[in-house]
Amino acid sequence: MNKIRIVGGNKLTGEIKISGAKNSAVALIPAAILCDEDATIYNVPNISDIDALNEILEYLGAGVKRDGETIKIDSSSIVNKKIPKGISKKLRASYYFMSALLGKYKKVEMYFPGGCSIGARPIDQTLKGFKALGAKVKEDGDKYTITADELKGGYVYLDMPSVGATINTILVAAKAKGTTIIENAAKEPEIVNVATFLNNMGAKIVGAGTSQIKITGVDKLHKCVHEVIPDRIEAGTYIIAGALIGERLKISNIITEHVESLTSKLIEIGVKIEEGEDYVIVSRADNYKSTNIKTLGYPGYPTDLQQPITTLLTQCTGVSEIEETVYERRFQNVEYLNKMGAEIKINDNKAFIYGPTKLKGKSVTATDLRAGACLVLAGLIATGETIIDNVDHILRGYENIIKKLGDVGAEIELLDI
Ligand code: EPU
Repeated sequence: MNKIRIVGGNKLTGEIKISGAKNSAVALIPAAILCDEDATIYNVPNISDIDALNEILEYLGAGVKRDGETIKIDSSSIVNKKIPKGISKKLRASYYFMSALLGKYKKVEMYFPGGCSIGARPIDQTLKGFKALGAKVKEDGDKYTITADELKGGYVYLDMPSVGATINTILVAAKAKGTTIIENAAKEPEIVNVATFLNNMGAKIVGAGTSQIKITGVDKLHKCVHEVIPDRIEAGTYIIAGALIGERLKISNIITEHVESLTSKLIEIGVKIEEGEDYVIVSRADNYKSTNIKTLGYPGYPTDLQQPITTLLTQCTGVSEIEETVYERRFQNVEYLNKMGAEIKINDNKAFIYGPTKLKGKSVTATDLRAGACLVLAGLIATGETIIDNVDHILRGYENIIKKLGDVGAEIELLDI
């Protein structure tokens, strides 16, 4: 079992280069099978969620060549067969194969997807999208058999702007007959990245990044090359690290607009940020002020940076309030922050952080990916040694986190115990 050991207190200075976005790459890889030729994707992060998707591709018979951050996928030899439970459950994004296989073969058999245990995470909106395009869904426990005689464009109003349901509906609609409209679509940059990829293959998708997306189905998609956008959540995590203990810490290879909901919050708190074209430089300042945060879909403050910023709020003077509106169980980091010396109380979907408090190194557990990131940040400023277990969660989503933080001065290592 892997653990991370951190000895806190080292100033972070230098440059951290941000990798390709996990939540974009995990959709682009399944989307690639919609064409029958080669799709080449650059800037794919080297994280275990990508390994899990490649395992599914290989299981289905696709040719997968990985060379550093480039993946070339040849889908011409795919055989549509039931994806076993074990690999469906490895990650949430396995369900992008549900839509890609349905869109390509009009039939798919697989299981309810996995993913971090941060809430119920139903897939009803994805199924609503499939049904609107003419598919029939048969549920047998957590196994789904989805079939369609013909996939026809339809009108889908999403009950909430779900990232997964928006991407899944786009993937099925790309080759359906006629036009599909998605209303109340999610607007995350990862959705724009996926739509651009499909358009590069010959799809006709307009409006991605707005709440109405229009997809006119085409018969065939052709080969293409495409690049994953920078990971705004990885970037945000290291920007927070800079606010906690940075001395001109440069976070580069980012799209600054994608992290604006975070950087504007940090400026309100009192963090010093210099912004360049594709980077920010962050330094720790004194006397941070408390603030209130409400998680929302893009361009609002992202739920995926809610747990990481909690560590910073423990260093702000006054009471900060976080309202988590996306997931029901995304405060599992709080127990461990409190163990380290924080004073945080939870009431329903709100957390109240009383600061500033000094954090001390302890043994803690990464209950999920972003909870793990929050604890890494806490370890960086805590006195003494922090040992985080269950860190496979962290390695699912942060490429080379040990090296990236070590290179800018952190005392951090991966222990294989
Ligand atoms: N929801 C439903 N029904 C649905 C779909 C969603 O009720 O059919 C609810 C969910 O339960 C949740 C909310 O709507 O409360 C938002 O879910 P959404 O579908 O937008 O999330 P997702 O597609 O499952 C992706 C990211 C998450 C990120 C969210 C929100 C991937 C693989 N995952 O999840 O990333 O939190 O969008 O931005 O893209 C992470 O990276 O740590 C992570 C959890």
